[in-house]
Amino acid sequence: MSNKKYIEFIKAQVDDLKNIGFLSKINIVESSVSSKSIIDGKEVIFLCSNNYLGLANHPEMIKAAKDFAEKYGAGIPAGRGVITMSIILELEKKLAEFKGEESALCYPTGYTANIGAIWSLMSEGDTIVSDELNHASIIDGCRLARGTNRIVYGHLDMDDLETKMKNSVKARSKTKTMIITDSVFSMDGDICKLPEMIEIAEKYDAFIFLDEAHASGVLGKTGKGTVEHYNAYGKVEVQMGTLSKAIGTLGGYVAGSEELYYYLHRRSRPFYFSTGFPHPAVCGATLKALEIIRREPERIERLWNNTRYFKKELENLGFNIGISQTPITPIIIGSPEKAQTLSRLLYEKEGIFVQAFSYPIVPKGADRIRTIVNANHTREELDYVLGSLENLGKDLEII
Ligand SMILES: Cc1ncc(COP(=O)(O)O)c(C=O)c1O
Repeated sequence: MSNKKYIEFIKAQVDDLKNIGFLSKINIVESSVSSKSIIDGKEVIFLCSNNYLGLANHPEMIKAAKDFAEKYGAGIPAGRGVITMSIILELEKKLAEFKGEESALCYPTGYTANIGAIWSLMSEGDTIVSDELNHASIIDGCRLARGTNRIVYGHLDMDDLETKMKNSVKARSKTKTMIITDSVFSMDGDICKLPEMIEIAEKYDAFIFLDEAHASGVLGKTGKGTVEHYNAYGKVEVQMGTLSKAIGTLGGYVAGSEELYYYLHRRSRPFYFSTGFPHPAVCGATLKALEIIRREPERIERLWNNTRYFKKELENLGFNIGISQTPITPIIIGSPEKAQTLSRLLYEKEGIFVQAFSYPIVPKGADRIRTIVNANHTREELDYVLGSLENLGKDLEII
């Protein structure tokens, strides 16, 4: 390597990352993921995985993955602009049923589903109205939608949303407007106010795009997500989802009308120009996961029983858990050093893996560890975690 400018650029960037502590050690998982896992050679309670329903290592899913790989192969022969595999069509049909929509189109990941759908749906002159705490993949999708007007409203602030919609009525009168939000916010665990958003969208001529990454499989009696939670069927135009959280596999999808499916199939560049779709093993495991969710609604019940118990006990101990309404429960500490120390001691002394977050991922002064319980955590495991948190919380003067 001899290009001086390139070498200087990379070196300066890495130095910067070191200085802000962004090159901390990567934790290596050496087993499947459940309530416990082997991380860096040590068995620990895994308290921050997105494996909400405990499906990621389900034996029936592993068998389905093997069976599908044997029958259909290990990879995908060509992109979907050229061919499609029958098992992907079957998966899309089942995902549409799961979400209560006419169609679902698979993408390689949830991230590409967001950028692919936002970018294709919104053209020059259109307006995107977005919650200030939306996920990075939404923000990046908006950036790619060149020539659009962007309006950001305060987090969950429906008065601010209404004011901004009202003030922009004239400017938006000849073009489309999309209100876009995370359904469950990934750092705070709070839920979007869908009924109010629907009213505002209807009043000010907009359509709604929901990012259901942390809601599908979690919200609603049968895990269909936010639309089921609020009984808002038929009121949301676009639902994006990921397979990498409650479903326990990998991939993304966009669910909605039949027309949406055909349009994205031909016009969404990250869809059309990529071969990276759920491969046969993932299709097999995902189809099985959807069957298990239908067959065993008690998994969702277990997730919520664990969530309610854990939140109540944390509050009883005096921890600040913010405004969380879901299994994502932050413990807000407000000091980057204490958040890092708590995470480190939980891991080193107590065998509990949970990550700390500081600025710029969360606002300054909102440093935290972010806990996520799942359906597989036992009451004994949760009580052990609560005991450890109590002791360390007192030692570090957090409670
Ligand atoms: C709210 C939200 N949207 C989208 C994504 C991207 O999904 P995926 O991991 O499937 O790319 C994530 C992942 O962390 C997320 O939290």
